[in-house]
Formats: sequence, structure tokens, C-alpha cells
Amino acid sequence: MRARLKNIRWEAEGINSYILEPVDGGLMPPFDPGAHIDVQLSPGLARSYSLVNDPAIRGYYEIAVHHAIDGRGGSRHIHEKWQVGQILDISEPKNNFPMVEDASHTVMIGGGIGITPMLPMIARLEKLGKSWELHYVAASPERAAYVDRLSDYDRVEIAYDGIPGGRRLDLKAICAAAPADAHLYCCGPGGMLDAFVAINCDRPKGHAHIEYFSAETEMATEGGYTLELARSGKTIAVKEGETMLDALLSAGVNVGFACSEGICGTCEVKVLDGIPDHRDHFLSDDDKAANRSIMVCCSGSKSANLVLDI
Ligand code: FES
Repeated sequence: MRARLKNIRWEAEGINSYILEPVDGGLMPPFDPGAHIDVQLSPGLARSYSLVNDPAIRGYYEIAVHHAIDGRGGSRHIHEKWQVGQILDISEPKNNFPMVEDASHTVMIGGGIGITPMLPMIARLEKLGKSWELHYVAASPERAAYVDRLSDYDRVEIAYDGIPGGRRLDLKAICAAAPADAHLYCCGPGGMLDAFVAINCDRPKGHAHIEYFSAETEMATEGGYTLELARSGKTIAVKEGETMLDALLSAGVNVGFACSEGICGTCEVKVLDGIPDHRDHFLSDDDKAANRSIMVCCSGSKSANLVLDI
């Protein structure tokens, strides 16, 4: 899809929001809370961003981007190069972090820019008249985006963990206080998500949901295996030092990808035979055990051959 960058707004220190509207007027494709879009920044450079606006608003998409100084270049590109009026290539919405809308109670935990998927969730929950609470941690008041939008609600806890006398969220206490059948959603830095997973929350399966927006993925670059592409009949050797995605792209195979670190799900490919070495944060443990698909941007192979459905 093509979209026009209509507006850029400062939201907090290092965080801008971007309003994208249809090039030819009309409406944007619908989305559900938790969805993201992939944004093509330049050939070979794409990134995924959560949609921030109320899903009931169909005239535009809003995304927010934190300028990661030590990042891989995507956020710097956006903060330094994007200009109002320019035309952007974006994907249709995809949702790896869907919300269970009929939950008795919803607990949202957002860290830093991880607040973004929570905003459309709140909009939808309010519309449905459902019970919810939000716990939001940022480094400081200056670096906390969207606090103004949250100020109308009394079910919001905001903590600042980077200022003198500040505090972190007490994830254990939040989980312990949540009703037994509540659904919990956590999005934030890797350390926070790891802590959330470690607490385990003692929830029924599928009641604790997490979304990574960046990850310290240990990429599989050991190589030493062969890819057989069932549809094209190609055979590609993956060499030491390259990822499966590197090998596929070098061989001229067109595979979609965005985050390149195993979190967005864009590069998922069906596995027909062989044993993947899963390194991503996208597939569930059950999906990984089933070995039916693989994230080619970061994962490798435990078997000498891997047969892919491409
Ligand atoms: S490109 Fe995002 S998971 Fe592979």
C-alpha cells in the first residue's frame, strides 16, 4: 500500500508520532487492537510499528517511533529523513498481538514505546464497556509518550524508573492481583518481557500475551546446511557467517522480511522436511515444537537439509 505522511508530532523526548493517510483519500483497511504495519524505509530496510490510533478511526493510521540511538538504523532513518507530504510504502495491518475481547478483565503492561499497542486496546475496551487496567513504565516524565491520552482514566498506573527516587513496575504484584481468568498483555524492552515470562503469572495457557518490539536475538549464522526449495527446485547452501535469509536473498529468492530479528513474523516460511533451529521470538513454544514453519531471518537448521515450501 502507498500512504502519505500527513503529520509528524513530537510525543516525548526521542518519540515522534506519524499520521499516514491514504494517497487517494478514502479509508485505510480496518485493523484490530495490537496490529502493526511494516514500513519500507529503503530497499532492504523495513521495520514494523504498532498502530496507535483508535481502530474505529478509519481515515488514517498513526504510528509512533522511538529514536533508538544505538539501534540498527530504522528509527534514525525515520526521525532524520521523513518529511510531511512524502509517500511511503506500507503493508496492510498484521496482528501478532491480538486481544481477547471477551475477557472478564484485561491487564496491560507497557514499557517505554511498548505503550503503543495498548492505546487501541484501551479504545476498543472502552467501547465494549469492558474492565481493564494499565501499568506503564517510562524512564522519566519527559520520555513518557501519550500520557495526555491516558489522563482521563483512573485505571492507569504510571511509574518512572530512570529518575532519582523512581521505581519499576512490580510485575509480580500486578500478576498476583489480577483475577484468575484475566488476560494479561506485556509489551516493552526485552528485560521487562523476560521478567514477565519468568514470573509466569500462573495463568491458564494463552492468558499471558507478550510482544517484542526489539530483541537480542541470537542469530543462527553457523551455516553448514542446505536448503531445498520445493516449489522452485533450487538447492542453496547456507555458509558459515550468513543467515538463512542472507543465503536466500543472495540466490535471488524473493522472501518478505521486515524486522530481521525474529519478532514480526513477516519472514515465516513453511517447513516441509528437516529440523529447524528456532531462534525467533515470534512462534509459540508449541509452534516451535511442531516444526511446521521457520523464521528465516534468524533461525537455522539442526538437520543437514531443510526443505522449504517456497
Ligand atoms: S523479518 Fe521479522 S521475524 Fe523475520
